[in-house]
Amino acid sequence: MSSVFKDAIENFLGPVKSLLDDPAVSEVMINGPKDIFVERKGLVFKTENQFPNEDALVSAMRAVAQSVGRTMDADNPRLDARLPDGSRIAVVLPPMAKNGTTVAIRKFSKEKLTINDMVSFGSMSKEAARFLDICIYLSKNLIVSGGTGSGKTTMLNVLGGRIPKTQRLLIIEDAAELQIHAEHVVNFETRKGDPSRGIKEVSIRDLVESAMRLRPDRIIVGEVRGPEALDLIQVMNTGHGGSMGTVHANNPVDACTRLETLCLMGDTKVPPDAIRKMVGSAMQMIVQCSRYHDGGRRTSHISEIIGVDERGNYISRDIFRWVQTGTDPETHRYIGEMVPCNYVPSFFDEIVVHKLPFPKSMFIAPEWARKRFGQAA
Ligand SMILES: Nc1ncnc2c1ncn2[C@@H]1O[C@H](COP(=O)(O)OP(=O)(O)O)[C@@H](O)[C@H]1O
Ligand SMILES: [Mg+2]
Repeated sequence: MSSVFKDAIENFLGPVKSLLDDPAVSEVMINGPKDIFVERKGLVFKTENQFPNEDALVSAMRAVAQSVGRTMDADNPRLDARLPDGSRIAVVLPPMAKNGTTVAIRKFSKEKLTINDMVSFGSMSKEAARFLDICIYLSKNLIVSGGTGSGKTTMLNVLGGRIPKTQRLLIIEDAAELQIHAEHVVNFETRKGDPSRGIKEVSIRDLVESAMRLRPDRIIVGEVRGPEALDLIQVMNTGHGGSMGTVHANNPVDACTRLETLCLMGDTKVPPDAIRKMVGSAMQMIVQCSRYHDGGRRTSHISEIIGVDERGNYISRDIFRWVQTGTDPETHRYIGEMVPCNYVPSFFDEIVVHKLPFPKSMFIAPEWARKRFGQAA
């Protein structure tokens, strides 16, 4: 941690220091000086912590901004920055923020979850984890989809860690966040432009273009949220199978639609229909992460995208789904399990050819779940 940032914390963030230091707290939310909330185990609680007054809170945010080389004042009333320890901070000052200075700090968790943790938390079944392993081994293109804080980056990290060690990975991010442990990893981070100091922006698009010339086996884009979607789709369609990324969407079909929208954001000459077909053929697997109302983060769908039908709709087939079966009366946590959906992926032949231990029977839905799906599943 840089000493400027440390000073900012020691001198100005005193009122929330105990929360920032508490490993059980994943997010600190400040809605004006007197209303401070935290997230623990996915649930939000109000705390007793308070800043003495609005001035103290604004000073704290100015100091934090300064420690990362940014300014907060009437001309720059919003901040979105990454702190030296990897945490993310977003701030809005009054008068836009009606409650007083409003802040959210998403702490960077040092302990990285593993696929086994996810299985033991009940976020994913053992069988689904094995199936995803196979998808990665077979170099399927894969997008992790989900809302903010649903666990996308965590999932991409876990999946990235399963890539065969002999492959060369090029990772491109807005802010270096992924920590994929493999032997041959190259990390790129974008640069924000600052015309007043003659600094030119280097975007995700620029870095994808360079990455293509750097002999990648796979390209991983941490968060796809702009016209670089088109570059990633082209990468996926031109033989760099096994490329991956995350996108902000609520279900697997939405993830494809979102990618399509992002592709069209750039001033591309490719017509929308053609883009849809490109997305449909590039995309193979979608892993949908969801944050449920009980605070649990789970993999809600693992789906295959088969393409686009003649009416222009994406064809998506769920392979595994998380199904809720009840609620624990004491903890109010949801009870449920991940079940196969009776769909055998189109690339099952490859599983057989490679002699991967995943028999067809693993895709058969249990009787109770079939009734729940209420379909021919
Ligand atoms: N399966 C999971 N079970 C419990 N906590 C999780 C799980 N996946 C992610 N988390 C936690 O949720 C928080 C947000 O995860 P992150 O991957 O950064 O979300 P996103 O990238 O979707 O915004 C992190 O604190 C992370 O450790
Ligand atoms: Mg993320």
